[in-house]
Amino acid sequence: MSETIQGLKRSHYCGTLNKSHVGQEVTVMGWVYRRRDHGGVIFVDLRDREGLVQVVLNPDMGDEFFQKAETVRNEFVLAVVGKVRPRPEGSTNSNLKTGEIEIVAHELRILSTAKTTPFYITDDVDVDENIRLKYRYLDLRRPIMQKNLVLRHNTVKAIRDYFSDHGFLEIETPILTKSSPEGARDYLVPSRLKRGAFYALPQSPQLFKQLLMVAGYDRYFQVARCFRDEDLRADRQPEFTQLDAEMSFVEREDVLNIMEDMIAQVFKSALNMEIKTPFPRLSYQEAMDRFGVDKPDMRFGLELVDVSEEIKDSSFKVFAQIISQGGQVKGINAKGCGKFSRKDIDDLTKYVGIYGAKGLAYIIMTEDGIKSPIAKFFTEEQLNKIVSKMQGKSGDLLLFVADEPSVVAASLGHLRLELGKRLNLINEEELNFLWVVDFPLFEYDKEEKRWTAMHHPFTSPVEEDIPLMESDPGKVRARAYDMILNGVEIGGGSIRIHRRYVQEKMFEALGLSTDEAQEKFGYLMDAFEYGVPPHGGIAFGIDRLVMLMAKRNTIRDVIAFPKTQSAVDLMSQAPSEVSAKQLKELNIKVDNS
Ligand code: AMO
Ligand code: AMP
Repeated sequence: MSETIQGLKRSHYCGTLNKSHVGQEVTVMGWVYRRRDHGGVIFVDLRDREGLVQVVLNPDMGDEFFQKAETVRNEFVLAVVGKVRPRPEGSTNSNLKTGEIEIVAHELRILSTAKTTPFYITDDVDVDENIRLKYRYLDLRRPIMQKNLVLRHNTVKAIRDYFSDHGFLEIETPILTKSSPEGARDYLVPSRLKRGAFYALPQSPQLFKQLLMVAGYDRYFQVARCFRDEDLRADRQPEFTQLDAEMSFVEREDVLNIMEDMIAQVFKSALNMEIKTPFPRLSYQEAMDRFGVDKPDMRFGLELVDVSEEIKDSSFKVFAQIISQGGQVKGINAKGCGKFSRKDIDDLTKYVGIYGAKGLAYIIMTEDGIKSPIAKFFTEEQLNKIVSKMQGKSGDLLLFVADEPSVVAASLGHLRLELGKRLNLINEEELNFLWVVDFPLFEYDKEEKRWTAMHHPFTSPVEEDIPLMESDPGKVRARAYDMILNGVEIGGGSIRIHRRYVQEKMFEALGLSTDEAQEKFGYLMDAFEYGVPPHGGIAFGIDRLVMLMAKRNTIRDVIAFPKTQSAVDLMSQAPSEVSAKQLKELNIKVDNS
């Protein structure tokens, strides 16, 4: 009884067989998806990367053959030699690519047995994700996961093809780099040779790609692994993959044009979908005003409406006071939600509370007029103005938050998305691309009481705003841009600073002393003294892009071996403790207190 493939050669993938192979002798190898005993005849669905095929194991092939057939269980690995024949009338399966044929086996080899798997290897598996991650090699056998990873391959291939065709060079940059925490926390790697010193894993190849422009490489791209020790979410992993690109002698429009063309080409090659370019462009301010977020999902309405002006003279003290202190009142018309119960509204109030809103005022529009606990504070004229600005109709529910602009934006921005989902307003088939442009260069960090870079410190300010970097940082506009798909930021980049004095001004505005700036980024600033082309670029999150292409809700579904929300690999149990010897070599003492 042979347990190897000695002498056998696979002739076809299981999933590729069809009527055109009828009459041929084939050799297939794969995993047992299902085994059915039909009183004397055993049917096995054999699965490989390309799909399933039905194999018929007949008792008339002899006792030894059939005894072996009877031991076959799910997930055994088999080699089967047999003849392809049409399935008998009535037993064809139109859901299966190979559903019109079956293989009648005359040789069967069990190449590997398998224990009962902790979950059934099927697309509609109903098991805790932690179990899937622990047995990832089983999870990855599921056809949907294989489809996701094939799509990922095709996407990356299309990306590489596009860039190669357009004069970009793929150049690798180091993984052991210098720590320069700005943005996320670094993953550190201790140096053995230099006592007490550490490398950092790159959060992105940003500085290296800029230095490649200084070096004259003109157009660069890389499929680059990046590492960030930050709080994880469905669309964030501690290590992830960027499509990183940089170009010399370009302006913003050059970068946007080529990148949207590239994305359209990738969707065409990998999904055979036509994407219309150019993508709409929205300023950061307009995105915040209309949607409360800088990455709006524009597949549905429910836009935010500013009613501060209409409300400011009302006798509702809470609101009037907020407005007089520089705050605002904005609302959303939840179309057709006038039937929401008190409890529904209480739930929404709690929901906006997460984002700092101190309440959620509402007006219910009915056939018989307005129902609202705050109506009594307004004159009829004021109410009419509000309702008309929000285009309120009978059956609608108008929801309001009053606060400082950042809280209004965050709470209503999230409320809008929540309502969009609850009310089923999102067409899942639609692909909504856009560019958000004209970001501010800085944002104020209230906790740290300092200005931070909204993108990163290498982003160029708009030329005429350079003088404001010292006097009024909040007003400086950045030459930055983000690409948004269905409310997810899939890419971000900018035209860079390429002059030393502007870079110095930038570090100064961020509160870095000249010495600190020199210590951390001196090599970049030194390079800026040796002839620098104006340059700009972008990086896309490949995981996020493929997640959206595959219509999944988490990037874990398009990464072969992802980590959990607590950055653990449940399969290998990384991170793990290391031996005392390893620590000693690195001069590291672990304080477990
Ligand atoms: P940024 O930090 O915006 O820009 O990153 C670029 C894109 O990478 C993706 N991304 C992530 N994906 C998964 N997990 C994460 N933790 C994660 N963090 C980011 C996002 C994001 O849009 N050097 C700049 C780019 C540039 O200016 O050229 C950069 O890294 O989709
Ligand atoms: P109160 O007068 O505090 O009972 O509030 C009356 C209504 O206004 C309630 O529905 C509150 O949820 C709402 N409300 C209070 N403060 C705010 C606020 N800052 N923004 C929106 N609604 C508020």
